[in-house]
Amino acid sequence: MPYILACVSQKGGVGKSTVARGAAVALTRQGYKVRLADLDTAQGTSVDWYRRRLNNGGDPLESVEYYRTAKEALEKSRDVDVLVVDAQGRSSESTLALAHAAHVLIQPATGSLDDLDPAIRLYTELRNRQIQSSKLLFALLKTHNENEEAAAWDYIGQTGFPCLKNTLRSRVGYKNAQNAGLSIVETFYPALNEQADAFLDELFLYIKKLYIKDM
Ligand SMILES: Nc1ncnc2c1ncn2[C@@H]1O[C@H](COP(=O)(O)OP(=O)(O)O)[C@@H](O)[C@H]1O
Ligand SMILES: [Mg+2]
Repeated sequence: MPYILACVSQKGGVGKSTVARGAAVALTRQGYKVRLADLDTAQGTSVDWYRRRLNNGGDPLESVEYYRTAKEALEKSRDVDVLVVDAQGRSSESTLALAHAAHVLIQPATGSLDDLDPAIRLYTELRNRQIQSSKLLFALLKTHNENEEAAAWDYIGQTGFPCLKNTLRSRVGYKNAQNAGLSIVETFYPALNEQADAFLDELFLYIKKLYIKDM
């Protein structure tokens, strides 16, 4: 069975696909056989992004596929090392099934309480349904400065859920890269790529530490 990393949130536009695509590219570069599973058939999807990638001559990934449900993605992904799930917003029942199967969930959040409160509610609901909280990881995306991040870390810290220390601040370069079928580690700006690498390395290290006995 593959390692399963799932990008979740109830809201759209928070950065699920951004993290999922970046993780899929970075893990592919590390030599893993990776599948990016796109469950969000309604929104700007990762399958469309992948088409742009190939059209623009970007490096191919092992596979990027649509699935209607998390269950289907899991059943059909026994052949890969890592399954990166780009989940859909809403639908907490399927998020629960995904949370049971995944090795880690990552939920992007900003510093705004309008985003943070529902994000924390989702993880609290999963924790109440026996998902261990160490698997329920937050990351700050689209933040603007240190003060915003400090306040968000403090707010999340009070809930007991883990949060990455590296953030992906709001930068047009991240958006432009994805418009061109590239990922956050492949922007036109070395400093942005470096920050995205640090962000993803921290995520991968977090997963390794959780499952160190298996490595
Ligand atoms: N750090 C960032 N800086 C600037 N734009 C970002 C950043 N992260 C994500 N975006 C942009 O925000 C939009 C929504 O992100 P996306 O990953 O598609 O969210 P979701 O999958 O949760 O709906 C996209 O246009 C994406 O390029
Ligand atoms: Mg998306």
